[in-house]
Amino acid sequence: MNRNIIIEAPAKINLTLDVKGKRSDGYHELETVMHQIDLVDRIHIQPDTSISVKSNSPDLPNDSSNLAYKAAQLILQTYGSGEGAAIFIEKNIPIGAGLAGGSTDAAAVLRGINVLYNYNIPNANLIDISARIGSDVPFCLQGNPRIIMDENDLRKDEKVKGSTCVARGRGELLTSLNARFLPWILIVKPDFQLSTAEVYENFKMDQVYKVPDLDAFIKAWARYDIIEIAHCCENVLETISTVLCPEVLAIKKQLEKMRAIKATMSGSGPAVFGVFENHEDALKAQQIMRHSYCETYLVSSYGRGD
Ligand code: C5P
Repeated sequence: MNRNIIIEAPAKINLTLDVKGKRSDGYHELETVMHQIDLVDRIHIQPDTSISVKSNSPDLPNDSSNLAYKAAQLILQTYGSGEGAAIFIEKNIPIGAGLAGGSTDAAAVLRGINVLYNYNIPNANLIDISARIGSDVPFCLQGNPRIIMDENDLRKDEKVKGSTCVARGRGELLTSLNARFLPWILIVKPDFQLSTAEVYENFKMDQVYKVPDLDAFIKAWARYDIIEIAHCCENVLETISTVLCPEVLAIKKQLEKMRAIKATMSGSGPAVFGVFENHEDALKAQQIMRHSYCETYLVSSYGRGD
């Protein structure tokens, strides 16, 4: 049987990100709001006798340093009986950007292999495996992505849905927020990659000058007040990433000058997202930013809100 599954793997942005302290295991205790956007990789998975990972991007490794490979290894070793998977990653999400590109591919591989081989793994067990792959992977397993099997949309009766969660702990303790659709988000990625580990290594609590107000964010989210939601976006890792990559600050300032309600860095950066009130302003800003940055993406939330 030559079945083929294609699964969408949406990127995330961190609408807020606060670091509460350093833990004894070396990780940082986080409090962050993660939100899936419609910038997606497409993961093609076919049954095979061994694991292989290929991609249209020359920058992706094809061994276990690729989180998608690691995900396939873990799920097949734990639940399989000798089968493999041929994985092809159609890469659209920029790498090393703070948009969880590698984590979302890994989450899609877990979900895809579970469906492809009918393992029927309970969600809690999938989440356990995902947390072993990386701190952002459990969040990336949330939501309801589009899954196509042999040209049929498996979820045609179900809504494709993005997720928004407050994540705590390393990022794996998740509380879901109601669906809200943000229509105009402009992402600009400087031509520079940041290592998450390097950003956290250099992070110092006493250098933080502005922390997100999560209560205010949650109230704005509940009211679906986009202007207030945007004003509440804040990321303490900017204190480090703006030093390692000064373009982050320049992009933030430019986006806000071009009528973004607010521009904030995502994750450990260096991608910056601006939340806009209308399509015209967002499009105009993109046209201008394109002169200086080749990676700009005008996106919305993933899936439509309730
Ligand atoms: O979990 P993941 O492998 O994605 O994390 C990459 C690196 O980011 C970790 O090795 C760690 O240095 C840092 N990190 C952290 N605290 C977190 C998440 C990541 O210090 N909550």
